[in-house]
Amino acid sequence: MKVTYYGHSCFMVEVKGKKLLFDPFISPNPLASHIKLEEIQPDYIFVSHGHEDHLADLVSIAKQSNALVVGVWELYVWATKQGLTNIHPMNTGGRKTFDFGTVQLTNAVHSSSFPDGSYAGNPVGFVIETEEGNFYYSGDTALTFDMQLIPKRTTLNFALFPIGSNFTMDAEDASKAADFVLVNKVIGLHYDTFGFIQIDHEVAKKAFTSSGKELILLNIGETITF
Ligand code: NI
Ligand code: MN
Repeated sequence: MKVTYYGHSCFMVEVKGKKLLFDPFISPNPLASHIKLEEIQPDYIFVSHGHEDHLADLVSIAKQSNALVVGVWELYVWATKQGLTNIHPMNTGGRKTFDFGTVQLTNAVHSSSFPDGSYAGNPVGFVIETEEGNFYYSGDTALTFDMQLIPKRTTLNFALFPIGSNFTMDAEDASKAADFVLVNKVIGLHYDTFGFIQIDHEVAKKAFTSSGKELILLNIGETITF
């Protein structure tokens, strides 16, 4: 599996020859100004919730790539109104097998509304199971005991967690989340983009190394292989 970071909570995973893009927010992010939106051609786009910093580029990337958009029912309804036609609706706890593997939507403890303020359903995370390995992207969330349910069914290779605090977990809580889901490699997301979530990278990394785990902070545009 190859993971490429596009800034904030946006990343692409290449698995079984398919490109899975999560939470596209690139063009409004000045830290990601070197990323060329038109070169991002996913096969799937997963959206964790309706907030602007998770779907700002959804419609344009979905239109240029004709990727299948996956999110909760309310996202399906909203995206249809934006003119998208290739959308698969799911909801919390639901599983679905696609051509790259199986997806399950998990609980996320956060809020969710679309940029116009309309109701966006519940925020979610994603557990992705494939023949090449399994990973968990929590979406924006607080630390929650629900995470302990995930390893009862799925053995994870790595996880992607928000670490910016203020709106989500900080690195210390994300380290506890890693313990809950039984992973020792975590890619950090949702930090430094805005003043509210600027963090000290060394302090964040120490929250993991002090308990024998690794927090990976990728440069925007950087790719890592698992
Ligand atoms: Ni949010
Ligand atoms: Mn967010």
